[in-house]
Amino acid sequence: MANHWEEVQKKLDSIHEKQLFRETRIYQGIDFCSNDYMGLATNSSMLEFFQSKKDIYPFGSTASRLVRGNAESMDRFEREFASFVEGEAALLVSTGFTANFGLLDSIAAPDCYVFTDRLNHASILDGIRISGAQKKYYNHLDLNHLRSLLEKANVEDPKNKKKRIVVTESLFSMDGDSPDLKILLSLKKEFGFVLVLDEAHAFGIYGAGGKGLVFQDLSLSEIQSIDYRVYTLGKSLGLEGGIIVTKKIGRDHLVNVMRSFIFSTAPLPMVSELASFALSLLGSMDKERKNLLSLASKLKESLKENGFVITNSTSHIIPLLLETEKEALFYAGYLQDQGLDVRAIRPPTVSTPRLRISLNAKLKLEDIHRLVEELILVRKKWNPL
Ligand SMILES: Cc1ncc(COP(=O)(O)O)c(C=O)c1O
Repeated sequence: MANHWEEVQKKLDSIHEKQLFRETRIYQGIDFCSNDYMGLATNSSMLEFFQSKKDIYPFGSTASRLVRGNAESMDRFEREFASFVEGEAALLVSTGFTANFGLLDSIAAPDCYVFTDRLNHASILDGIRISGAQKKYYNHLDLNHLRSLLEKANVEDPKNKKKRIVVTESLFSMDGDSPDLKILLSLKKEFGFVLVLDEAHAFGIYGAGGKGLVFQDLSLSEIQSIDYRVYTLGKSLGLEGGIIVTKKIGRDHLVNVMRSFIFSTAPLPMVSELASFALSLLGSMDKERKNLLSLASKLKESLKENGFVITNSTSHIIPLLLETEKEALFYAGYLQDQGLDVRAIRPPTVSTPRLRISLNAKLKLEDIHRLVEELILVRKKWNPL
């Protein structure tokens, strides 16, 4: 029998050789990499609110939400959130990962087809895997490809015995791009599938009041026809947690079957208190949203003018593509030494190495200029010719 620790060492050696070794490090420098897009994690009103809530006790939720872990603030936040995004009901869970993973495991089964964008987040792909459903990948954002797979499924299963589920992010975290939601909704009408839409990276920034990309692109009746919308508190709300918006019976179903909800300690009561407060701020942060989107278009323009290759980003997430893992690490290391917190993203998270530059509303135009200047300098250092 192979020795476990020898096996672990071998794996690590191979990760090192491929320049793919990762380690945790304490953050520092100007934030060009977090998901705190609206700056709420360090918002001064949030801090005052937090300090005024000294009476939140016990600190821990002490049990799962179905046992003793359900505080009044959790039910209240769910109602407020559902109402904010014009949904019928919402379910709060401990993380966005838990939300996607548990949701897909709950609604899919081996006799289902689940159609997934190839680049969907790990929490989605793992949820499909654990459900045992038949996974059908379509090419990134390619809704024509999705259509042809749906048509093929209709040939394979003409009596529609197998449930069809389509799942996609509304804004892809590692590419900064989005599917055409109008076309997606017209496919839903035509083929009648269950739709799961993950708004993790769009919520807080797009649509009126930051309600999400669906509010930018779709009518209210189209929005309300989406079966499940998944959000995380860990990005624009500056906290941690996940929330699923669905019909009232959809929530009842999840409360009864979703293993990652049932068998896990509820979020801290302080999280739902803070989340309610963050939500009350978010709707009126138009100035911050405007600043963020203006910085994003200026950065994209400037990077292109200076000959950098970026993805087809339509958002505040602006990945700069590089040739090798080593190059990505070199760029990120240099920028970090200059006080700019930019991180290299490498396989298997993405297929091509990149710097994932994500902007937030607290940045200023001078920060963007400085980033571009330093990028030009590090490119010269990497390739002196
Ligand atoms: C699209 C998407 N969904 C879900 C998650 C998971 O959310 P959380 O970080 O709250 O677990 C992430 C995390 O990055 C994500 O990018």
